[in-house]
Amino acid sequence: MSIPQPYVNSDKNSFANTSLLKRWPAIVDGIIADLLRASSTALPARQGETEKLINQINKLKTSMANNDKIEPLPSTLSDAEVYNSTRDISRGARWEEASWLTSECALYRKLHAIFQESENWKSYDMFELTKNETFQKSADAVSSLAKRYHVITQQLQTAEGGKLEKAALEVLFHEIISTSLWGNATDLSLLVTVTLEELKKLQVAAENRDKESLLTNDFGNVWKQLNSQIGGRVDIVLDNSGFELYTDLVLALFLLDNDLAEQIVLHPKNQGWFVSDVVPKDFGAVLSLLGDANKFPKERADIDFLTAQVLKYTNEGQLLIRTSPFWTSPLPFWEIKQNGAGGGDRVWRDLRQSKLVIFKGDLNYRKLTGDVMWPRDTPFKTAILDLATSDIPFVTLRTVKADVCVGLPSGKAEELASNWSRTHPDQHPEGWAWSGNYAVVNFHR
Ligand code: F6P
Ligand code: MG
Repeated sequence: MSIPQPYVNSDKNSFANTSLLKRWPAIVDGIIADLLRASSTALPARQGETEKLINQINKLKTSMANNDKIEPLPSTLSDAEVYNSTRDISRGARWEEASWLTSECALYRKLHAIFQESENWKSYDMFELTKNETFQKSADAVSSLAKRYHVITQQLQTAEGGKLEKAALEVLFHEIISTSLWGNATDLSLLVTVTLEELKKLQVAAENRDKESLLTNDFGNVWKQLNSQIGGRVDIVLDNSGFELYTDLVLALFLLDNDLAEQIVLHPKNQGWFVSDVVPKDFGAVLSLLGDANKFPKERADIDFLTAQVLKYTNEGQLLIRTSPFWTSPLPFWEIKQNGAGGGDRVWRDLRQSKLVIFKGDLNYRKLTGDVMWPRDTPFKTAILDLATSDIPFVTLRTVKADVCVGLPSGKAEELASNWSRTHPDQHPEGWAWSGNYAVVNFHR
């Protein structure tokens, strides 16, 4: 079977093009603005280095605007080899002709390297301010979900024998996992300038998504897989911090509370990534923000209950965090195999211990399917290549925010494009795939 070509940045029919021309420059400007804010209250040594860092960041922005060659990563970085041996970087591709996935990963990797290689800003997370400020805008949704989780837990405690009937539990499971799925709609790389009102509307709309928005729905098989054994380990390959991480934690609690898992391993990134992705210290940041009654004033008892549950499971070793450099490599997840490159081999050995791996979000889906131009009716199993025989049962919970999308019935993508053109006459027909209005849930075992 031949693998299709990747999406490339020069393709005006791909969201890659808007990303290179509009989104990335805006994201880089945001990094500079936040750096200036952080610097204004920093120690003099840090302040003294700020201008140099801004010059380096601007140089990178200019190289994109001039369509220069994507420079290799400095060989001092431990993952330089993985990046520099990609097809794009090794052949000296320019930003426009490069594949979207490799060049986008390289952009975030290069930005992080600027701080990593600095004297005084090595541990700086360039997206910390944005992540934490946006989380606070989700206060209403956070309170409602805390209340809901508390009610569910009380129902469980008062049920006969301390257990809900399977059918009732399945209904609740759908509710909780849907919240985690649609929590991905509020990704900061798209919503850098969102207003509070817009964010609230998005979150309420997310709760009311109807069947039409879920293009493929394998929740039934996920439920079966979870019930294939009592307890066991479930892994969540995380995506965004803030509200999405919060919904993922609620999902983790629900699985642990109900013996659907006895251990949950959470996999964050180990560097600031795609604006809003979780890094390990975001757990502490999110929990400490949740503890602040000025920022989250409503349903305090419920929020406190929920955070206590997170701490309890963490202290008992049932809720773990594990990072790998593989998650910030540019490689597709086809490398999660016995001899996989870039650390894919170690991830494979680790994830094989899991009863179910949950891949969250758009970027993870792009990597699962290689971000190449699969016809939209390609079976999911075909698009995941070697992962299909990896012995890892997994599900992808993704709101669609990029071109690649497989597993649709024949003709469905054309129907979506034609409906999008009718309802959004001033937008590209492919806008349906870039909007985050639709989602796909694909299970494989
Ligand atoms: O589509 C816009 C985009 O920023 C993509 O570049 C990227 O795949 C995605 O959104 C990030 O979304 P998520 O946080 O869901 O992975
Ligand atoms: Mg993300």
